[in-house]
Amino acid sequence: MTRRTIIRGGLVITASDEIHADVLIEGPRIVALAAPGAHDWSADRTIDATGKYVVPGGVDAHTHMELPFGGTSASDTFETGTRAAAWGGTTTIVDFAVQSVGRSLREGLDTWHAKAEGNCAIDYAFHMIVSDVNAETLKEMDLLVEEGVTSFKQFMAYPGVFYSDDGQILRAMQRSAENGGLIMMHAENGIAIDVLVEQALARGETDPRYHGEVRKALLEAEATHRAIRLAQVAGAPLYVVHVSATEAVAELARARDEGLNVFGETCPQYLFLSTDNLAEPGFEGAKYVCSTPLRPKEHQAGLWRALRTNDLQVVSTDHCPFCFTGQKELGRGDFSKIPNGLPGVENRMDLLHQAVVDGHISRRRWIEIACATPARMFGLYPKKGTIAPGADADVVVYDPHAEQVMSAATHHMNVDYSAYEGTHVTGRVETVLSRGELVIDQREYTGHAGHGVFTPRSTCQYLI
Ligand code: URP
Ligand code: ZN
Ligand code: ZN
Ligand code: ZN
Repeated sequence: MTRRTIIRGGLVITASDEIHADVLIEGPRIVALAAPGAHDWSADRTIDATGKYVVPGGVDAHTHMELPFGGTSASDTFETGTRAAAWGGTTTIVDFAVQSVGRSLREGLDTWHAKAEGNCAIDYAFHMIVSDVNAETLKEMDLLVEEGVTSFKQFMAYPGVFYSDDGQILRAMQRSAENGGLIMMHAENGIAIDVLVEQALARGETDPRYHGEVRKALLEAEATHRAIRLAQVAGAPLYVVHVSATEAVAELARARDEGLNVFGETCPQYLFLSTDNLAEPGFEGAKYVCSTPLRPKEHQAGLWRALRTNDLQVVSTDHCPFCFTGQKELGRGDFSKIPNGLPGVENRMDLLHQAVVDGHISRRRWIEIACATPARMFGLYPKKGTIAPGADADVVVYDPHAEQVMSAATHHMNVDYSAYEGTHVTGRVETVLSRGELVIDQREYTGHAGHGVFTPRSTCQYLI
């Protein structure tokens, strides 16, 4: 017999609606919504959501579990990272498989499948990082699209590692224009940044704050502009990841005004943190080293505005945790050796709810940028990202009144610090279902590694 669950009495919030409704779940799927009491449903389990929000599970379209970087590896495994995601109300991640230079896409994807399979608490999908564009790689892109890996990240940063030059970028974009893939761009001028890094180190500027100074906003904007125009020439859509500078947002806004299929993502760290954190005393700033870098506080208002005007469409975490002890410390005396990345997969839904409380965005926009649009952008909708009959029963019961203080002492990510240590937020995840199964039950973890499955994706559903 299929298990039936009713979530009763909550305010159901999707990207388009807010309605008081009961939700009926049968097995792994949502089967009906009805006005409270206006039905005669029976169920094996009833979850009381009175006074709470009932929202779709978060879709975090940018994570890096177990990513090798700078001679070390991101500290969350697929097991610990997806468990932490569930604690934070996220029920789907899209992680990045990596092609190594000289190797095939297939080999990279197989490696990432092996890391994730059987270990995830929630569902997962993959983008593919393309580090070596050649004739074989371009053919392989078609095959990956066929098997549900429909987006490809390229880097204008990190020469010698993931970097693609403009010709390689153009070729990959031309291919994606044909096969329906979506190119995701790390838009920073890495060649120019490497010159500035070398000059800064030669001047003895070795502290973490110089990471922010050499990775200039102008060099993010320049690369964003170049990526947009290359995509325009190729006739391909473009998604720019981890946008942090208002100058880059302006490039996206201009392209969108021209009617181009150009999209942008920002991350909680750019909305809530700044270069003030990078300049914290001693070596503390290393905790906040990521790329694109944190920007001066003045950029935040522009990012919030772009999220309201839809010049930015998605908030993902770029979760890429490295412990302070033993990992971030690799860059003592040389900021360029600090592994790049911040933890945050557990914090995103709460921080964005705080943005609702603070009046930056509406409740529906919260769900749109954190659940519905990432699902549509990356071909997971309406299976993921909404509450509707037929959708996967990935559902969060959210208490909008609970108070919490973010801390490494209480978080579930496998990392020894919190980027948001001491931050008070209003709102907290209470219960989480993944395909109808309880993963968090009133703040108790009831999930298990291996529940989450690989989820093939269709092509982008967000094109103009
Ligand atoms: O600093 C970051 N963002 N680390 C992860 C890799 C990337 O560029 O997204
Ligand atoms: Zn990146
Ligand atoms: Zn990333
Ligand atoms: Zn299970």
